[in-house]
Amino acid sequence: MNIYLPTLIYSEKDCVMKRGNILASTGKKAMIVTGKHSSKANGSLQAVVDAFEKAGKPYVIFDDIEENPSVETVMRARDIGVKEQVDFVVGVGGGSPLDACKAISLMIANPLVGAEVLYENVMLPYLPVVTVPTTAGTGSEVTPYAILTLHQNKTKKSISHKIYPVMALVDYTYLKTQSENVLINTVVDALAHLIESYLNTNANDLNRMYSEQGLRMFSQVKDSLRKPDDSVYKTLSNIAMIAGMAIAHTGTSLPHGLSYSVTYELGVPHGKAVGIYLGGYLKLYQNKEESKRVLDFMGFDDYDGFSAYLKELLGDVQIPEELVKRNAAQIFENKAKLKNYPYDVTKDQLEKLLG
Ligand SMILES: [Fe+2]
Repeated sequence: MNIYLPTLIYSEKDCVMKRGNILASTGKKAMIVTGKHSSKANGSLQAVVDAFEKAGKPYVIFDDIEENPSVETVMRARDIGVKEQVDFVVGVGGGSPLDACKAISLMIANPLVGAEVLYENVMLPYLPVVTVPTTAGTGSEVTPYAILTLHQNKTKKSISHKIYPVMALVDYTYLKTQSENVLINTVVDALAHLIESYLNTNANDLNRMYSEQGLRMFSQVKDSLRKPDDSVYKTLSNIAMIAGMAIAHTGTSLPHGLSYSVTYELGVPHGKAVGIYLGGYLKLYQNKEESKRVLDFMGFDDYDGFSAYLKELLGDVQIPEELVKRNAAQIFENKAKLKNYPYDVTKDQLEKLLG
């Protein structure tokens, strides 16, 4: 399958209110999955609650999703969802609640099995998932991916199940309450998705349409990230979604693979942890015609100009030498992590990806 995207998308201002009836009619009773703070601050949680109240539909709220959600949190939500007999799940917030809600939908639909099935290659049913993203980053609103923290492995890992949301309600105005840092880090994550999908073993002409369009849109807003207006927020919101469509078909590549330990061990936000590898990734990529095309889409003349742009945007990130070496060695030994990179790569090249 080259193209598969089953998510019904509404991307517009006030879409939760405008499409509240469709949202509430997804099932009989919903579990609304969100974090502790931001969805309350930006009004997204209230908009979802209002939709259910207006439709007279029952719901239960689980608002305890942490950043980089753990399997343990997913299982706590599962217990509540089973007890409350919910039959669909609505994720509200950034990538963490959206990823978590997919895993929760699977676990509620399989109340008698343990958390280990999240990482087993078995076909299992799951409840319908609706997403209401409030950041422009992971693209989780349209992807089938759910990345959870595995404390015993000291890293983050995507679950084995592909759970596409049935509907995404994307309102760019929720981005306005974000801090500059959060906005930048999440947008760089989306940028990484576009680049890693375009320069990927699984890339083809069909799914590259998404990356190319997203990169061209990025070129229009790349110098406005510190002073966004409504039209920039709207463009960023759509870039993140298009980037999600791109990786839904290809997966990510080396920058993402190398980033997870950096986030787990040093607490560096996901987008920033990925972004520090992007300049090196473009430079390393053996097909220069393709990597230069990516630079061109983004509106950069050369690799150094792109690296300097990222450095100015993200600031300095110090990674201890020991972690750089261990990380490169681990990725090098893990064939699954290397499979989305189409060329041979050495341990030394992986170490130097930081630039
Ligand atoms: Fe990402």
